[in-house]
Amino acid sequence: MSVTKGPVVLTTVFCILSGVLGQEWKVTYSSTNVCGVEGSFVDISCTYSYPSHLEIKETFWFIKKVTGDEADDLSLDSKYQGRVEYLGDKVNDCSLRIKNLKDSDTAEKYTFRFLTNDPKGKFSGSEVTLSLRHLAVTVSPEKASDGNQVTLTCITICSLSNNPTYIWYRNSQPLTNPHPTSSNTLSITSVSKEDAGYYSCAVRGHEGHPSLSVCVLSCWSVTYTPKSICALKGSSVEFQSYCTYPADHTVTKAFWFIKGTWPSGQEPKDLIQEERYHGRVNYSEEKTNNHTLRITDLITGDSNSFQFRFITDKVGGKFSGGDVELSVIELQVLVDPAIVTERNTVTLTCITSCSLSNNATYIWYKNPHAIGSNHTAGKTLNIPSVGIEDTGSYSCALQGHEDHRSPERTLSVRYGPRNTLASVHPSAEPVAGDSVTLTCSSDANPPAQIYTWYKKSGDQSSPVGSSQNISFASISSEQSGLYYCEAGNEIGQNRSSAVQITVTCKF
Ligand SMILES: *[C@@H]1O[C@H](CO)[C@@H](O)[C@H](O)[C@H]1NC(C)=O
Ligand SMILES: *[C@@H]1O[C@H](CO)[C@@H](O)[C@H](O)[C@H]1NC(C)=O
Ligand SMILES: *[C@@H]1O[C@H](CO)[C@@H](O)[C@H](O)[C@H]1NC(C)=O
Ligand SMILES: *[C@@H]1O[C@H](CO)[C@@H](O)[C@H](O)[C@H]1NC(C)=O
Ligand SMILES: *[C@@H]1O[C@H](CO)[C@@H](O)[C@H](O)[C@H]1NC(C)=O
Ligand SMILES: *[C@@H]1O[C@H](CO)[C@@H](O)[C@H](O)[C@H]1NC(C)=O
Repeated sequence: MSVTKGPVVLTTVFCILSGVLGQEWKVTYSSTNVCGVEGSFVDISCTYSYPSHLEIKETFWFIKKVTGDEADDLSLDSKYQGRVEYLGDKVNDCSLRIKNLKDSDTAEKYTFRFLTNDPKGKFSGSEVTLSLRHLAVTVSPEKASDGNQVTLTCITICSLSNNPTYIWYRNSQPLTNPHPTSSNTLSITSVSKEDAGYYSCAVRGHEGHPSLSVCVLSCWSVTYTPKSICALKGSSVEFQSYCTYPADHTVTKAFWFIKGTWPSGQEPKDLIQEERYHGRVNYSEEKTNNHTLRITDLITGDSNSFQFRFITDKVGGKFSGGDVELSVIELQVLVDPAIVTERNTVTLTCITSCSLSNNATYIWYKNPHAIGSNHTAGKTLNIPSVGIEDTGSYSCALQGHEDHRSPERTLSVRYGPRNTLASVHPSAEPVAGDSVTLTCSSDANPPAQIYTWYKKSGDQSSPVGSSQNISFASISSEQSGLYYCEAGNEIGQNRSSAVQITVTCKF
């Protein structure tokens, strides 16, 4: 049970013993070259046998012979302190685990040894070597140009566990689209500027140990996240660029500019220098790979394409990325149908000319209060049977951006005349010869345009005029009687109650 202290004597194979007893002295490893991942552990599977009348006294692994045939127990080596664990027993299992693998562990050769109760019954196995699995990427063809098919292969010097899943990275970002793959080869059918950059691979579960990266098409690249933004007027946006360049270069200047504003023979104008963005644009000038462009208080005129450019300390060290697109929009209220009549179904929609995130929550306002209506469903406000009380100015906003409401849109509900009233001026009891005017008023949308005046005599009514007002310049007693009017617009008609005109004679 006790750990071997100090040197022990190594001897070579005991042919005599094994010959006599017919039981072989033997150590068997499942592999004499085991493969591990740096920082992880590796198990060396091992079994041993010996003449059956003997008893095992000591088992251990060693890497060094001390003097002659003597060796030190590996677990006592300071370099392996706490990193080795004997998984075997004193019968026939001699497996070893080496933990927290280090690069230097690959320089050693590992051997299992055991001692029996017979002072001469000692045996050592053969040596086991340890390799660390390093991944590497090969590129074919090595010098690709635009449009070529390029194949990248993730290779390793030692074999991997069953069916590993690979992860590919471009400029340290896991590849999703347009080249997703979990195999050890990555094929780009027609390579373009968009694909340029540094590629590396890793095995899933060991993402912390990716391969070194290789440069495809060009080591000069700019990657943006996101590539386009649809933002509300008044809000703020951020674009991030990630640039790569040959390792011996150092970035000395990095800036953004508006696409298409590049005077020939000169450098493009730094966005910070653009007057119309003054005080609203900000980006770090740190000489790193990451640069965030921030534009605040967006106005519609900010809609533009922007490019990122950087310059290094070496001759010819200049590169501009593709472009990112910013669309600044205002919300708009769309009313459908455009002309609404009482009792119609009307739908108001909060629209945008580019698509905002799917989960935006809309808020509706009616002159000028937020409405918590049962009719709202996200970006639409549905009124199944519109009434005059629904008339008003509507606007919408996104939750979290309540300050950036859409312009108001008036919902005007049309209805036929109501509250039609016939009135007499200046008096319903004029003296013959007076001037008298009858006025027909009503509440209607659009205002009544068709008027008919009637005079009642008994059960009969006869039309006496067809304008809103009828006038008698000099009224006579025969014109006494009951008058009423009917007002109409394109939606309907409504009749007033009758007014009595009584003309008195002047004597
Ligand atoms: C840019 O924005 C950051 C964070 O809002 C701020 O700390 C910094 O002062 C700004 N720089 C310039 C030049 O405006
Ligand atoms: C740079 O950006 C990438 C993603 O675009 C991110 O993973 C990384 O942490 C960033 N580095 C720094 C220093 O901000
Ligand atoms: C969308 O919803 C998710 C979860 O509900 C949230 O994390 C995310 O920020 C939302 N996106 C926007 C643009 O509001
Ligand atoms: C919404 O409907 C519920 C019941 O269906 C009702 O109690 C509530 O008053 C309604 N709210 C509005 C704003 O119409
Ligand atoms: C006219 O409108 C009023 C409501 O203002 C209504 O009570 C009345 O029945 C209508 N009359 C006719 C004849 O349509
Ligand atoms: C009828 O008279 C009223 C009241 O005097 C006036 O407001 C209106 O403009 C007149 N209508 C027409 C068509 O002249």
